[in-house]
Amino acid sequence: MSAIKEYIQFNLPGIESCLSETVAGLNPLVKPVATHILEAGGKRLRPMLCLLTARALGYEGKDIYPLAAALELIHSATLLHDDILDQAEMRRGKTTAHIVFGVNEAILAGDALLAVANRIVTEYESLPLVRCISQAIYWTAVGEIQEIQQLKEPSLTVEKYMEIVVGKTGYLLQTCCQSGAIMSGSLQEQVEAAKTFGLNLGIAFQLVDDALDYSVSHLNTGKPKGGDLREGKLTLPLILFLQGMSREKRDDLLKKIKGKGLDPFEQQWVLEEMERKGLSRKTRDESNKYLQAAARSLNRFPDTRERDLLYEVLEYIKDRED
Ligand code: IPE
Ligand code: IPE
Ligand code: MG
Ligand code: MG
Repeated sequence: MSAIKEYIQFNLPGIESCLSETVAGLNPLVKPVATHILEAGGKRLRPMLCLLTARALGYEGKDIYPLAAALELIHSATLLHDDILDQAEMRRGKTTAHIVFGVNEAILAGDALLAVANRIVTEYESLPLVRCISQAIYWTAVGEIQEIQQLKEPSLTVEKYMEIVVGKTGYLLQTCCQSGAIMSGSLQEQVEAAKTFGLNLGIAFQLVDDALDYSVSHLNTGKPKGGDLREGKLTLPLILFLQGMSREKRDDLLKKIKGKGLDPFEQQWVLEEMERKGLSRKTRDESNKYLQAAARSLNRFPDTRERDLLYEVLEYIKDRED
């Protein structure tokens, strides 16, 4: 077994028991929705990053688990909300919560999870921690709003796309590492290194996610292949695809994507052309630049076992197929 898998296996029960304890204490109207999303699985990347960063920077306390679990609760809440915005039907291999329980129920359960996560964070009585967690929730919401706004625009530049990626995904992953660093009481310089590491990792993570959307079956990701195209979402693979077309053909395709949507044959054609042109690969190549930047930040961490595991997390993201 790889070292990172072994580490996760050892630490996951601590995080899962905090999550179960929190869910058990929820109002009976919120509990089924929270159970639905949390018991469907998920990679638990965010809590693991918080834990690994704290440990890599010398924090040894057992009380890190609730903070790590709070980050997963925030992530779960953003997924509940995101699936409503994206009208997604599948998440973590299951029917999405808003379809099972209703849109209003899923919105309010998401809000409740955000509030519960904040309450857990206040237990640490650390203002810097409260500040960074609430900022992350704010930035994620802004990123999601920017993406919704962009759906109404006829086109999207790579720069704007990257801004959305930083907002909707980058900041929360940055915060996972930043909060771990804050717990360790490290010097500002190392907190900054942790933030830069998390942000670059987060950007790379979303780019790979956008590449996987065009290349991997739902059996791996728990989300249907080609979902972004059906949702009319312009992510990097599609932006690159459109850039390779004549102006006339591009305008025509964009109009359809943004209008009534592509029919199944047109969707299939785009997926096949993407594959032929290697645009998922190109998107992953782009993500590698951010993974390299993340690795450079890690070089500023002290040499510990957990730092090595964080390098392994970068390798996992580089090759991930799920
Ligand atoms: C999904 O995140 C949302 C993105 C930021 C791409 P994950 O891929 O970490 O989802 P789970 O937690 O493993 O289901
Ligand atoms: C990921 O959004 C960011 C958040 C959930 C806030 P996406 O819409 O790109 O992610 P998936 O593909 O639904 O997981
Ligand atoms: Mg989505
Ligand atoms: Mg979305």
